[in-house]
Amino acid sequence: MENQVQKKRILSGIQPSGDLTLGSYVGAIKNWAALADEYDCYYMLADMHTITVRQVPAELRRHTLTQVAAYIASGLDPEKNVLFVQSHVPAHAQLGWVLDCYTMFGELSRMTQFKDKSAKNADNINAGLFTYPALMAADILLYQADLVPVGGDQKQHVEICRDIATRFNGIYGDVFKLPEPYIPKVGARVMSLTSPDKKMSKSDHDPNGCVYMLEKPEDILRKFKKAVTDSDACVRFDPAAKPGVSNLMQIYSVATGADFAAIEREFDGRGYGDFKQAVGEAVVELLRPIREETERLLADKTYLESVYRAGAEKAAYVANKTLNKVYKKVGFLPR
Ligand code: TRP
Repeated sequence: MENQVQKKRILSGIQPSGDLTLGSYVGAIKNWAALADEYDCYYMLADMHTITVRQVPAELRRHTLTQVAAYIASGLDPEKNVLFVQSHVPAHAQLGWVLDCYTMFGELSRMTQFKDKSAKNADNINAGLFTYPALMAADILLYQADLVPVGGDQKQHVEICRDIATRFNGIYGDVFKLPEPYIPKVGARVMSLTSPDKKMSKSDHDPNGCVYMLEKPEDILRKFKKAVTDSDACVRFDPAAKPGVSNLMQIYSVATGADFAAIEREFDGRGYGDFKQAVGEAVVELLRPIREETERLLADKTYLESVYRAGAEKAAYVANKTLNKVYKKVGFLPR
């Protein structure tokens, strides 16, 4: 029997704008899988957010489907988690518009991600890039989410979501639950292998900086072999003085379960060559079952379709309740 006590609700999402990275797995998806028993979990593929930057249509479709498969292969059981594609639930666009009208030009102008992305895409600073946070607020508020697991870079977006919700509730009464960001503990943030002062990112210019979740073992091993370290030839955890080695230790720790002291002992007196080889092998073994399962699932399109269709239906049910309430509050004539 289902526990009658209301579980807290979680919502998060990743944009299917490219291949998922080791960073998205370790920093996000891997942790999500452990939350299913304690929380009521909704995980979205934020495809509507991806088109704020130009996408190749066939690639977007392929990335979206692959990401559904990778979510499942990473342990997100579709029976226990609602897995859905944002554009399949029209309420996101609908509430997004309403919230655009309750979000101020000034507050959107202050968003660091907007400033970064408009600097990077100077020839395409479109209105969607600017109002992105209002759509993200809609994503969260539609589900009355309690907690939003995000990386530190998204914290500002959860804060503006709270500001928008507070403003709306201030006018119309308690319509939206105020969500809290749920930032994973340090250690879950994977840095670039070639510039360890930057987050590992699929938009990294150096292809050797980023390891992909579904990458071939030989490519993973090669990238770890090339990872940047330092010149003191000692495996010791010290993120400020030894960012490269510390990042590799974090990754090794996640992949093997060993703590930093154990890792320091294991590689005491051994060179970085051995260490990097061991980290590469551990990552290959961490990702192997996920890659194999993703490939197997991708061969079964009917099953994947059934998952995202059922997910969209469950998500829309919850989302439409909130949307109807909002439409009524702002004074739209009921159909
Ligand atoms: N903006 C998030 C990112 O780029 C993705 C995202 C869209 C999201 N909607 C969300 C994350 C809602 C959490 C909740 O990483």
